[in-house]
Amino acid sequence: MHLPKAELHLHIEGTLEPELAFELARRNGVTLPYATTDELRTAYLFDDLQSFLDLYYALMAVLRTEEDFAELADAYLARAAAQGVRHAEIFFDPQAHTARGVPIGTVIEGLGRALERSEEKHGISTQLILCFLRDQSAASALETLAAAGPYLHRITAVGLDSAEVGHPPAKFREVYEEAGRLGLRKVAHAGEEGPPEYIHEALDVLGVERIDHGLRCMEDPELVARLVADRIPLTLCPLSNVRLRAIDILEEHPLPAMLAAGLHCTVNSDDPAYFGGYVGDTFHAVHEALALDHEQLRTLARNSFEAAFLDHDEERRARYLSEVEAYVFD
Ligand code: HPA
Ligand code: ZN
Repeated sequence: MHLPKAELHLHIEGTLEPELAFELARRNGVTLPYATTDELRTAYLFDDLQSFLDLYYALMAVLRTEEDFAELADAYLARAAAQGVRHAEIFFDPQAHTARGVPIGTVIEGLGRALERSEEKHGISTQLILCFLRDQSAASALETLAAAGPYLHRITAVGLDSAEVGHPPAKFREVYEEAGRLGLRKVAHAGEEGPPEYIHEALDVLGVERIDHGLRCMEDPELVARLVADRIPLTLCPLSNVRLRAIDILEEHPLPAMLAAGLHCTVNSDDPAYFGGYVGDTFHAVHEALALDHEQLRTLARNSFEAAFLDHDEERRARYLSEVEAYVFD
């Protein structure tokens, strides 16, 4: 769907399509435990977040050079452009690469190379969000932020991802305080598999401005009221929720109820190579499965630009918002 939109919840490593994974494996002399792309695709049946993360981290073994990261990001941007994305705020997981001996500079400079050309080549403005792996230690997160020091001009915000349950936001209080001192914006995954308390904690202890997922806020009416009153954006990922079994079927996704409650919802793709669709596909899927009408889709698109970190360029935000209003559905 070509409706102009911002993508605010997208893990660049989750855009690694099987074909590119095999090509990079060949180039870098990495042996994958799958013979063909079809065989790899049969592994894309997940029971929960952890079962996905196991494959997600394993496949990253093929990403080694700056050029690999540049190609990965360029391939994503080309796909996103074809689905109406005008602005993308892109997560990356430096610890998943430094743990394999790939320097953080290789990751950031490689991604940066593709992002620098994005506006001219794909018509998409971009930002990078450095995520800490919450199942690693707080000390490791602090080391990662320090290692990113020379590259902070390329980074807009910090985020928190990976296995949620048992790793509450408060574990990362210190590193978020440091990120704030460095002038970085703050987001965190919360309430994907973890309880509503983790959403409260991400707001109260980490001071995040957006909640990634936030699905489980619906279990806590007071939390919903708070999120509505403070207009905290939620970056929902409906196809991810189905694939990782947070909900059984898309038809049961609470997105319509969340919109009706007045929550500032956005719709995003999370890890599109693994979850069956890019963000335009996701808009199409919620239109069909949840009977969202065109004006509700327009609201979701408008919300995405309102929630974007475009405060330094309000003219651009206004331009994108006027594209949303002018869009004619076919
Ligand atoms: N949740 C948490 N961590 C992640 C995800 C996700 O959906 N995708 C990549 N890392
Ligand atoms: Zn995510």
